[in-house]
Amino acid sequence: MRFAAAVAFCALSETGAAATYSRDVAPILYRHCAPCHRPGQSAPFPLLTFQDAAARAKLIAAVTANHTMPPWKPVLGYGNFAHARGLSAGEIGTLVRWAADGAPIGDGGAIPAAPTFPSDWKMGKPDLMVTLPKAFTVPADGPDLYQCFVVPLGLSEERYVRAIEFRPGNALVVHHALLFTDTGGSARRIAGGGSYSCFGTPGFLPTSALGGWSPGNHPIHFPRDAAGTLHAGADVVIQIHFHPSGKAEEEQSRVGFYFTSKAPTRRVADVALTSRNIDIAPGDTAYKVRDHFTLPIDVHAIGIIPHAHYLCRDMKGTATLPNGSLIRLLWIRDWDFNWQDQYEYATPVALPEGTWIEMEFTYDNSAGNPHNPSSPPKRVTWGAGSRDEMAGLHLQVVPDRMEDLPELGKALWGKVMRSVGGEFYKRPDTNPVQ
Ligand code: HEC
Repeated sequence: MRFAAAVAFCALSETGAAATYSRDVAPILYRHCAPCHRPGQSAPFPLLTFQDAAARAKLIAAVTANHTMPPWKPVLGYGNFAHARGLSAGEIGTLVRWAADGAPIGDGGAIPAAPTFPSDWKMGKPDLMVTLPKAFTVPADGPDLYQCFVVPLGLSEERYVRAIEFRPGNALVVHHALLFTDTGGSARRIAGGGSYSCFGTPGFLPTSALGGWSPGNHPIHFPRDAAGTLHAGADVVIQIHFHPSGKAEEEQSRVGFYFTSKAPTRRVADVALTSRNIDIAPGDTAYKVRDHFTLPIDVHAIGIIPHAHYLCRDMKGTATLPNGSLIRLLWIRDWDFNWQDQYEYATPVALPEGTWIEMEFTYDNSAGNPHNPSSPPKRVTWGAGSRDEMAGLHLQVVPDRMEDLPELGKALWGKVMRSVGGEFYKRPDTNPVQ
């Protein structure tokens, strides 16, 4: 812990005071760690008491100093996201100094009360609650499982959704979940009455994507005037990524839907930057996949969802406005398939007609990539399997004027057709993107 000691020395000489649990550390852990590090949540141990924290003081200093905790993949400041997680340099300094000083409690009588969390639905009783039809057994060990569950909603008429909360039955094994709707019965046919294995994609063309859940996440909210639609007779399909915990666990997740009587007057559209043109030689440490799209209408971006499998290391999304200014959409420098998230902008990002949106993903197919599923590395091409790769950056946009939506649809369709035809087209020189 040489590094920690050096940081501790600097921090101490700046403030001249030792950090104590009761005054300095408890408020940081309550705010930034307790949402996951408490009983019934995803993290493997609680961080609610002095004893919890003191026993792991050095580990806490190490994982916060190297930014693995709290988990947050996007580079802070590159894209302004709601619910971003991260500690300030001062907070990290406090934790490091406290550990180096031997984790003093300070005034034991002055420890602030641990935060309380809603034990039930975060938004109160849902208007519609569904549960996986039967419990699923996650084995004690073995590889991670990706399983799709088809749950009939039993709706006899169309309903509009303003919010959704996913609640894992057993947070220790549910790594993340994605929710889709299916009106055509395709998923039911694949599942044959139960559930089915599905990695990456849900294995059918969903009617809609409703968003996702990962540990510590907030309920999914739909923008005002742009409620989600559940059609009569629709099923919700829940794709869950399970991570075995070391002992066999039973899991039966629930989903709560919150309705609104207001039919949506606006719709969220998916501007998908993707490429199937992926062919990565074994040993290549910096294989690039790029795609771009020029917006034909004025929109506001409300969120962004990146997707790739294990080999991807770096993901960058930018927008260049017609006036040449660059907007940072997302940058992940250490992509980890296990922390797939959907990111919501703190305030919607205005992207006028003519904005050039671009993605660049970098893949590392060498033995030096600890996530590489093949040893020795093998040639990897596009595909839905866990040893294949994908590249997708999905910008969730709301058109400023709904009557423009068909034009966006047409342009996106044109993009798909050009990519199928393999036509190569060049970025205009007038739009430099760094
Ligand atoms: C969003 C949920 C979440 C938050 C917030 C969070 N953790 Fe964690 N933490 C986890 C999970 C899940 C694990 C288990 C390891 C994994 O799956 O990556 C973990 C593991 C750890 C570990 C064990 C690491 C190891 O190598 O054994 C430490 C220490 C830790 N967290 C400390 C913290 C601290 C300190 C904070 C707050 C500054 C924090 N965590 C915030 C979810 C979270």
